[in-house]
Amino acid sequence: MRNFRIAPSLLSADFACLGQEVRDVIAAGADIIHFDVMDNHYVPNLTVGPLVCEAIRPHTQAPIDVHLMVKPVDSLAPMFAKAGADIITFHPEASEHIDRTLGLIKESGCKAGLVFNPATSLSYLDHVMDKIDMVLIMSVNPGFGGQSFIPHALEKVRAARQRIDEYTAKHGGEIWLEVDGGIKVDNIAAVAAAGADTFVAGSAIYGQPDYQAVIAAMRAELAK
Ligand code: DX5
Ligand code: ZN
Repeated sequence: MRNFRIAPSLLSADFACLGQEVRDVIAAGADIIHFDVMDNHYVPNLTVGPLVCEAIRPHTQAPIDVHLMVKPVDSLAPMFAKAGADIITFHPEASEHIDRTLGLIKESGCKAGLVFNPATSLSYLDHVMDKIDMVLIMSVNPGFGGQSFIPHALEKVRAARQRIDEYTAKHGGEIWLEVDGGIKVDNIAAVAAAGADTFVAGSAIYGQPDYQAVIAAMRAELAK
């Protein structure tokens, strides 16, 4: 069975006590912290920058997965690496030079990945698979938490799984396949069946009082 990882998105956490929210969700059984960065330019919303990443860093040893919804990407990505990020992903449309941006992230010591909006082609992966540690499929249009899962994202997840398996069978290594947007207890099994191994969930986890109960219910679905 695939190794499944649950990545709560801080976007739906209480921003007045983020350190505690990070500790609580990891204590409740989450594996990764998903950190959404929005610039009110690439996406119509504004969140947090490297200072906040640095501030939460001492609160957990779990990987911090920084999802950059910003344009341009190159100046900010290394700042997040310095601020303690472990994984940095960006949207290929937001970078003028995708290969260079991936290289910058890798040189800064982080894992790197590309993010695919619902209407973005996976062909951006064609010539850069050797620099990719994670593929992130958006199952909503980026910008806001609490949106509904777009069902045709499952087809994209299946196609990404096939690309990853073909590449790693030939070249070795490990590439994670993450899905972000509208993931809940009642659809996580379908997302896993399509080939995902890493599941972002914001409102489904932080919108409930008992984080442990939600994460346990998600893991029970994944074990079915
Ligand atoms: C959307 C963000 C997501 C979002 C997920 O642009 O990238 O990470 O927080 O939130 P839910 O799980 O509520 O859809
Ligand atoms: Zn995200």
